[in-house]
Amino acid sequence: MTEVRAGRLRGIVMRGPGLTATVPFYEDMWGLSLAHRGDDAAYLRGTGSEPFLYGLKEGDVFGIEYVHFAMPDRSSMTLLHDQAVAEGARVLGKPGEFDDYAGGWGFEMLDPDNRRLRFRCDALEHGEAPEHAKPRKVSHVVLNSPDMDGVADWYCRVLGFRVSDYSADQMVFLRCDAEHHAIALVRGQYPSVNHVAFEMPTIDEFMRGIGRMKQKGHVPTWGPGRHGPGNNPFAYFVSPSGFVIEFTSEVQQIDETTHEAQVWPRDVPELMDRWMTAGPPTAAQRAVMQGRPDPGWPELAPVEPA
Ligand SMILES: [Fe+2]
Repeated sequence: MTEVRAGRLRGIVMRGPGLTATVPFYEDMWGLSLAHRGDDAAYLRGTGSEPFLYGLKEGDVFGIEYVHFAMPDRSSMTLLHDQAVAEGARVLGKPGEFDDYAGGWGFEMLDPDNRRLRFRCDALEHGEAPEHAKPRKVSHVVLNSPDMDGVADWYCRVLGFRVSDYSADQMVFLRCDAEHHAIALVRGQYPSVNHVAFEMPTIDEFMRGIGRMKQKGHVPTWGPGRHGPGNNPFAYFVSPSGFVIEFTSEVQQIDETTHEAQVWPRDVPELMDRWMTAGPPTAAQRAVMQGRPDPGWPELAPVEPA
C-alpha cells in the first residue's frame, strides 16, 4: 500500500537542439513570460505562483529533461524518497538543496522509461499575476511508452498515483491530486513525449488564446474540441521545435469518495469529441504526437545509491 502521494505537477523541462531560440514563440504567441535564463536553458512562467512552468534546455536529443512535481514539505519529501527506495525505484541520491534558479529542496528519480522526475519543495514562488488569456499552469503531461501498463503500475505503486480513466486499451489517465490527470500514458513504440497541456483559467480565455495564436498564423493542428475522459476542452498546436502543446481549461476535478475509473470507447465520436467540433486527429497529428524517441536521462550518468 502506497503511503505517500506525489505532489502537484509543477511543469516540465524539455530538451533538444535549438530550443532556447524558440523563447519568443512562447512569449509572443503562447502567452508565457521569460523568468530566467542560464545553464543553456530558458525557464518560462505562467500567471500562477510557480517559478516556471516550461523549461527549454539545449541538448543533442529531443525529449524530456525532467518532469517537475511539488511536495508539501520536507517530511513528505523524505517519506516519498524512502518509499521510492523501498519500491526499488532508481533514485538519484538523497533529498538535498537544489542550486538552480528555482532553488528549494528535494530529489530526483527515473521512471521505468528512464524519464527523470524532479520533486521539489520550498521552491521560489512568484506572486500570482493574472493576465487575460495567458496560461496559469501546466495541466498535464502525456507520455508515450512501450510498456504503458507497467509504467502506469509503477506511477501508482511508487508515487501514489491513481487511475482516473482509460481510453480503450490505448491510454490511461493518472492523477496525483483532484485534477483528473497530471500524467497520462499512451501505448507507443518507444518512450517519447506525446504533448504538454497548459491550463487557461476560463473557457473564454481558452478560446481567446486560440484566437491569439490564429491571428499570428498558427491554427490548431487538432481542435478546438472537448475530450470525453477529463471533460476538458482541447486545442493542439505544434511548437517550433516540433513538440505538441495544448491549451486546455475546466479539467474535471475528481471526488475521491465517489469516482470510479471507466473505460471510454474510442469508436463513439461523441465520447471522443463531446462538442463534435474537432473530429478525429489526422494521420499527421497522430504522427507528431508519437514524438521522437527519447532515451531519457543519460545512461552514462552514475545513479548514486540512495
Ligand atoms: Fe491533453
